[in-house]
Amino acid sequence: MKVNSWNGWDPLTHVIVGRADGTMVQAPEPAVVRDWPEHGFPAGTYGRLPDDMVAAANEQLDAFADLLRRRGIRVDRPEAIDFSRPVSTPDWEQGSMFGCMPPRDVLITVGNEILEATMCYRSRWFEYLCYRPLLGSYFREDPGMRWEAAPKPRLTDASYRAGFWEEYERLDFDEQIARVRENNLVLTEAEPLFDAADIARFGKDLFVQLSMVTNRSGVEWLRRHFPGHRVHAVTFGNTHPVHIDATWVPLRPGLVLHCGEREAEEELVQYFKVNDWEIVSAAPPARSWDDMPKLCFCSPWLSMNVLSLDQNTVCVEASEVAQMELLDSLGFEVVPVPFWDVAPFGGGLHCSTVDIHREGGLEDYFPKRHGRF
Ligand code: ARG
Repeated sequence: MKVNSWNGWDPLTHVIVGRADGTMVQAPEPAVVRDWPEHGFPAGTYGRLPDDMVAAANEQLDAFADLLRRRGIRVDRPEAIDFSRPVSTPDWEQGSMFGCMPPRDVLITVGNEILEATMCYRSRWFEYLCYRPLLGSYFREDPGMRWEAAPKPRLTDASYRAGFWEEYERLDFDEQIARVRENNLVLTEAEPLFDAADIARFGKDLFVQLSMVTNRSGVEWLRRHFPGHRVHAVTFGNTHPVHIDATWVPLRPGLVLHCGEREAEEELVQYFKVNDWEIVSAAPPARSWDDMPKLCFCSPWLSMNVLSLDQNTVCVEASEVAQMELLDSLGFEVVPVPFWDVAPFGGGLHCSTVDIHREGGLEDYFPKRHGRF
């Protein structure tokens, strides 16, 4: 057993896959807006996702875990805790927790280190507990593993912009994108905040999306924490940015998958081009916003939330035919995995996993500098 992973494409040999058990529509809090009156959860209400949805999601998660195991990959699973419990710190009280489906949001492996993210939702403050049994066992089994946790945030009201959602939802698209570009969103800069899933690993370069769940001081904390890396803050033309892995997805050295409707900054595009990287636009998703699963807070672009098993092999949601064909034409072996029942629990194939071990070492795939990069 060894912790080691530097990028999103080297051969995967050990991974965590999340669980749907006990997932909640979380109790209201400043950073989260949920409003599903037609499915029993109008704004302000909260509770467990229905049992039939949990069972369907767990069936797909278990099948995905089995598929990975059949390919020789070690798969570990988190331990759900009672997410319906109210939680508190000296600074706040929160009516419920959330779940442990998207491990990608909470943990990131960089080399021999596993880092627990700060998170920025009060409902997700304690989520690291679901992974502590695994992290403790890795720490015991692998003498080289570095176990780190970013400073637990206070998450007082000072960490959130008061009245943000009412104000923001009244803006038009261009005004919202202007706010996204300057990261003038729900989080203030009161303290470093980031979700692990806003980080995309490309060897020596870590691209961190400024988003609804990651602020500038979060990126600054990561920059000081990983002095051997180039840590870049990036934004995309997405009005509700949460997690980079349905927007800018590394596939193999020289190839990144981009959600074309979420425009990348020109400087980022040029940085990839001068370093001979190809930027491929993801295929149109199979689903429209209107036929998303109920209680889903993700977008149809989960279609591009793929998991690479190695440089030539990629797991894609089984109904995303156009995405599978695109990857096939780029020379990948595509492994179809039915997964849309998992979406309401927080994401797709990439979100639902955390790499613990991939073969290979730290490499510099961007030898040339460009602009601020
Ligand atoms: N917010 C993204 C979208 O809807 C989904 C990304 C989810 N990723 C994750 N790691 N949970 O486009």
